Amino acid sequence: METSILVIGGAGYIGSHTAVQIMNSGLSVVIFDNLSNSSRAVLNRIAKLTGRRPTFVEGDIRDRLTLRTTFKNHSITGVIHFAGLKAVGESEEQPLKYYDNNVSGSVVLFEEMQRAGVQTIVFSSSATVYGDPGYPQYSEDTPLAPVNVYGRTKLMVENILLDIKKSRPAWRVASLRYFNPVGAHVSGIIGEDPTGIPNNLMPFIAQVAIGKREKLLVFGGDYPTPDGTGRRDYIHVEDLASGHLAALNKLMNSDDNSPIIVNLGTGRPYSVLEMVHAFEKASNKPVAFEIVDRRPGDLAEYYADRTLAKDILGWEARLGIDRMCEDTWRWQSNNPNGYQ
Ligand code: NAD
Ligand code: UD1
Repeated sequence: METSILVIGGAGYIGSHTAVQIMNSGLSVVIFDNLSNSSRAVLNRIAKLTGRRPTFVEGDIRDRLTLRTTFKNHSITGVIHFAGLKAVGESEEQPLKYYDNNVSGSVVLFEEMQRAGVQTIVFSSSATVYGDPGYPQYSEDTPLAPVNVYGRTKLMVENILLDIKKSRPAWRVASLRYFNPVGAHVSGIIGEDPTGIPNNLMPFIAQVAIGKREKLLVFGGDYPTPDGTGRRDYIHVEDLASGHLAALNKLMNSDDNSPIIVNLGTGRPYSVLEMVHAFEKASNKPVAFEIVDRRPGDLAEYYADRTLAKDILGWEARLGIDRMCEDTWRWQSNNPNGYQ
């Protein structure tokens, strides 16, 4: 049987870009997704980009039997686990939904991996595990104190993986703490397709540029930053995807099997207004905006200390703000209604 990487949540935004890179590196992929926040249409798009359709299993990680059958039917050598709910506000309103999907679902996945003898996993964590340490540059030893339910689910799963690793040293585990993922595949064929009103900055800007929304509300113009707007470490999704490949490679091929926990960011923050202006340049469209009150829970600024990812994985982000905006615009203008 051909060996494959199991990409859980692989129909989603970051998972689909990562699946393409894995397939283009010569490995086979099985995508497992319940399509709760994604579309089956992405599978044909992936096929267009790779020349092969990935195997697809429609399933939920809380459904043990579907997982068990998947491990039985395919020769899986490693798992990348993107499946999760990710809306911070919703996680505060419906904590049990988040603990069930993100934490209980992960436990079922890890139990079925153990049963199937699959011991290599890369997990999607988030910079949100750091909370608000009081300084803007986060290294991996910044204290872990997530300030919302979503962040706590991420930290719980990181800790579960460390506990598994302690009890079963043959496991190989990596948790990747993403900063702010943006951008799309350079072809404009796959990208981020949020349902409803986007919570995040970049898809909102893109929808203003294409005329779907009237103007961007800039949350806060009085932060202690050079232009008064919030600053974040935006990272191109293609760089994130290559970070997953680097982590998988290290787990599968290195003699050192210590657990890996690293930041994936560029280390270079941009303000909301810098993003707006870069997007106007890339799209050649105006992006109307209005500065309004701060959004509760937002910080003025944070960005990654990216030293460890470079040391451990030999990985660093390569794509800058221009490519982030150009590629988002290509995806948005070629697919004004996303995958529909
Ligand atoms: P996404 O919603 O596009 O992708 C997640 C995928 O998982 C979706 O296709 C969804 O249908 C699937 N899924 C969710 N629950 C599932 C379940 N119980 N069983 C099977 N499939 C399930 O999100 P994304 O932006 O690609 O994020 C991927 C991962 O990265 C998430 O875990 C997210 O928390 C994490 N992350 C995302 C960001 C970000 O800004 N996008 C930042 C930090 C971390
Ligand atoms: C949010 C999540 C974080 C998650 C990250 C990436 C919160 C509190 N945090 O972070 O957990 O990991 O997304 O998905 O929700 N902005 C506007 N107008 C908008 C939208 C955003 O001005 O309409 C500003 C924000 O105030 C912020 C910046 O743009 O300064 C980025 O916002 P966003 O994309 O939502 O990401 P974060 O808030 O950094």
